[in-house]
Amino acid sequence: DEPRRLRVAIDGPAGAGKGTVARGLAERLGYLLVDTGAIYRAVALAARRASLQWEEEGAIGALAEDLARGGRIALERSPHGVPPDSSAPPPANAPAQSSLGGSGMRVLLDGEDISSAIRAPEISLGASRVSAVPAVRKALLAMQRQAGAGGGVVLEGRDIGTVVFPDAEVKFFLTAPAEIRAKRRYDELVARGMNVSFEATLSDVLRRDKADSERAVAPLRKADDAILVDSGHRSPQEIIDEMATLVEIRARGG
Ligand code: DC
Repeated sequence: DEPRRLRVAIDGPAGAGKGTVARGLAERLGYLLVDTGAIYRAVALAARRASLQWEEEGAIGALAEDLARGGRIALERSPHGVPPDSSAPPPANAPAQSSLGGSGMRVLLDGEDISSAIRAPEISLGASRVSAVPAVRKALLAMQRQAGAGGGVVLEGRDIGTVVFPDAEVKFFLTAPAEIRAKRRYDELVARGMNVSFEATLSDVLRRDKADSERAVAPLRKADDAILVDSGHRSPQEIIDEMATLVEIRARGG
């Protein structure tokens, strides 16, 4: 029998390695990758460009509804699954690549590639702020469900297994100690040519953890039926292998 094409949820806090693991797993399985954090980041960037303050929740909610309704945010697979700029060396002081975390996907806002712009620390905090607004979460829900509807998809986020797809066939909750997550985020930002300190990165991570897990709507939490995976002292490859094996067994009805 053909294996079933499942919905795989990967949730967890910032810096747990969700991006790397979700990308590797999707590639390995031949599944589509959906980075839902990128959608929240796109809303934050659009809000910033509209000169909205993070406190202006009403206006930000309305903006998110408009972005969703108008199909103004798009996650696009770049040709051949390769980041668009990977063949050409980036200009000296440009971000490392114009891609969604190097995942071979691009994020578009009104057709413009914002894949790099949404990774700025200011937009990370903004994404955390806008994601706490109930109207924003509601507006983005349908988009995420649509992206995963056909199965054969790895969705990465905070509430995939609890809210977006509570009936996902396989759920993982990926985490690691805060210092390790901050170190990863720091290395990633430095590699992108950003001028940040480790202390500031750690305090951002802790601040976001707190905000993401204490917010009233869809707080970050492990679904009861999610498999807990600690990425602290294991390689991404090891984790991807373990996850892929599990998904393949389930896809064959095991
Ligand atoms: O995974 P990330 O760092 O790109 O996510 C950015 C922010 O978006 C994060 O602070 C929390 C929020 N987010 C969310 O609330 N729900 C999701 N499914 C994904 C992200």
